[in-house]
Amino acid sequence: MDSVKVGICGLGTVGSGTFAVLKRNAAEISARVGADIVVAQIGARRDNPKCDTGDVAINRDVFAIAENPEIDILVELIGGTTVAKELVLKAIANGKHVVTANKALIAEHGNEIFAAAAEQGVTVAFEAAVAGGIPIIKALREGLAGNKIQWLAGIINGTGNFILSEMREKGRDFADVLAEAQELGYAEADPTFDVEGIDAAHKLVILASLAFGIPLQFDKVFTEGISKIAQEDVTYAEELGYRIKHLGIARGTSEGIELRVHPTLIPEKRLIANVNGVMNAVLVQSDAVGPSLYYGAGAGSEPTASAVVADVIDVARSLSSSQSSRVPYLSFKTESLSAHPV
Ligand code: HSE
Repeated sequence: MDSVKVGICGLGTVGSGTFAVLKRNAAEISARVGADIVVAQIGARRDNPKCDTGDVAINRDVFAIAENPEIDILVELIGGTTVAKELVLKAIANGKHVVTANKALIAEHGNEIFAAAAEQGVTVAFEAAVAGGIPIIKALREGLAGNKIQWLAGIINGTGNFILSEMREKGRDFADVLAEAQELGYAEADPTFDVEGIDAAHKLVILASLAFGIPLQFDKVFTEGISKIAQEDVTYAEELGYRIKHLGIARGTSEGIELRVHPTLIPEKRLIANVNGVMNAVLVQSDAVGPSLYYGAGAGSEPTASAVVADVIDVARSLSSSQSSRVPYLSFKTESLSAHPV
């Protein structure tokens, strides 16, 4: 296969970032995959003035991508759970692989979607659904695959962490910071998902399913957001040597897996207490490696696109006939190397 054809559905913050990264890094990506990744079609209800898609056709009907026989991978970036679910199931039924950043879709309908994908023998990849650009899904599925995981805890909503950080560092007003998070493209279309802990609960359910091998169970999460945190809470916590962080926690207990998201007081010297702004971090405690910590940008256009593109590359590698499905990351052209004295 000389090229793998991708259809991007949704041209908002993440869709435009995905298009930009695929275009900008096309040469490196092609060398790593052993085939070109071609964005053959875009499905979007409206144009995005911030994204020049050149001569790539934009279809107003996203379902046209799922029906297009040329498309190998449908990238679902429209969000929500209604149209997105129908679109993903249609793509799967038509034998397409799917890459999605949609945590609500995976957390609430993943069991049905993965069953449909298994029946069709296609992949549904979702690295971008949790913790933006941090490869936490790959860490749990691959890097920690030999471990028994005891618990994990993480800051997994960038908007919420940005709000709490700005309140503490600059004394800014909650609503004012939330408005900025929306402008920066961090927040959900409905920002109550961010501030009431729903987005973090979606992500926690996905992490717990991978870590503990359990079905996705969104209705089992104890969920509390940050909307009741006042400036005095942040200040008092600081005076006592603590930081308020909104955490998602999944823990194995003798009664089953405990799933909860809520604000937490963390001693200020702990690493996770010093994760600020839109950054996310996930701490995983497992039996062989012990503790391991994963840190990076948890939201935003290109950080999230980085994870989407990683999944596109993974699927494309498995489709490319010129290389095995797992190529080494050191795949380069020697003439393009330049040495830097250290
Ligand atoms: N609204 C989400 C957040 C976007 O702030 O973390 C990334 O999932």
